[in-house]
Amino acid sequence: MWRYLDVLPVDDEQDIVTLGEGLTPLLPSREQANVFIKDESKNPTRSFKSRGMAAAVTMAKKLGAKRLAAPTAGNAGAALSAYGARAGLPVFVAMPRDTPQSIIDECEGYGAEVELVAGVITDAAKRVQQSIAEHGGFDLSTLKEPYRVEGKKIMGYELLADLDRLPDVILYPTGGGTGLIGMWKAFDEMQRLGWIDSFRPRMWSVQSSGCAPIVRAFAQQLETAPEWESPETSAWGLRVPRAVGDRLMLAALRESGGGAIAVDEAQIEGAAAEIRKREGIDAGPETGAAWLALRELQARGDIKDGELVVVFNTGGNKYR
Ligand SMILES: Cc1ncc(COP(=O)(O)O)c(C=O)c1O
Repeated sequence: MWRYLDVLPVDDEQDIVTLGEGLTPLLPSREQANVFIKDESKNPTRSFKSRGMAAAVTMAKKLGAKRLAAPTAGNAGAALSAYGARAGLPVFVAMPRDTPQSIIDECEGYGAEVELVAGVITDAAKRVQQSIAEHGGFDLSTLKEPYRVEGKKIMGYELLADLDRLPDVILYPTGGGTGLIGMWKAFDEMQRLGWIDSFRPRMWSVQSSGCAPIVRAFAQQLETAPEWESPETSAWGLRVPRAVGDRLMLAALRESGGGAIAVDEAQIEGAAAEIRKREGIDAGPETGAAWLALRELQARGDIKDGELVVVFNTGGNKYR
């Protein structure tokens, strides 16, 4: 990721906290012509969250943070735990009580203090605030600090390097939305650099029928997304009932000519298993959702034959 140092907020290479994130493979689908899978499960903590935390922990350490904290649906906590250990800084993560044990073990394995909270990520966020008030530390919640999005934007730069052009369509399983928001920022930067023209991929946010605040807000043409009541989905990364970056995300989706789509919760696990078995790619449930969205958008005619599509495998299958 740090080959793009010139567009990252770090001046001195010595400051970089890295575990080798980024430059993930863009793999052609075996099953679907013109569809590529950007395989973010190849990152050090097996999800795209490695990128954001590499940038955020680098800057937090440089700017003097002594303790790092964040609420998480799972993967962001694992990434923070690993990068915190790499930086030599203590980490506190709060996550929903029903987060899969494999993720709790992963965080604790990297030496983080883990607290399980009743409810969902928004409840975990309140616990993080309390812990910081009591013990100090810096809050690395999604979009409450400016650097996670900087790490994630590099996915947009890599797409151009991978394809020599931008795809027609991007499908991204979305919770807090920083992946999408980061890439959208990268496209503007690349245009200012003279690397691309004003063409933009149509960006689609993919959510589950069990938690789809962005899809509902998009359909109702709202500028922000009201909280989703009783969010339930087996795709843990998508269980975000209220997104801090809702306004930015909705604006990007609209400007891009894309949209937001909710897929049937009951089919998500099966679709992820299908990608693993048929493509040989370590796909988590979030990617199962994106795969279902691909089929639905093709069937609806929102993706046409011959269009170049990138589906993000945002993370590996950790939920056993
Ligand atoms: C595997 C996976 N995919 C997608 C997401 C959603 O990412 P974002 O919250 O940046 O939209 C997450 C977030 O936890 C995740 O872990």
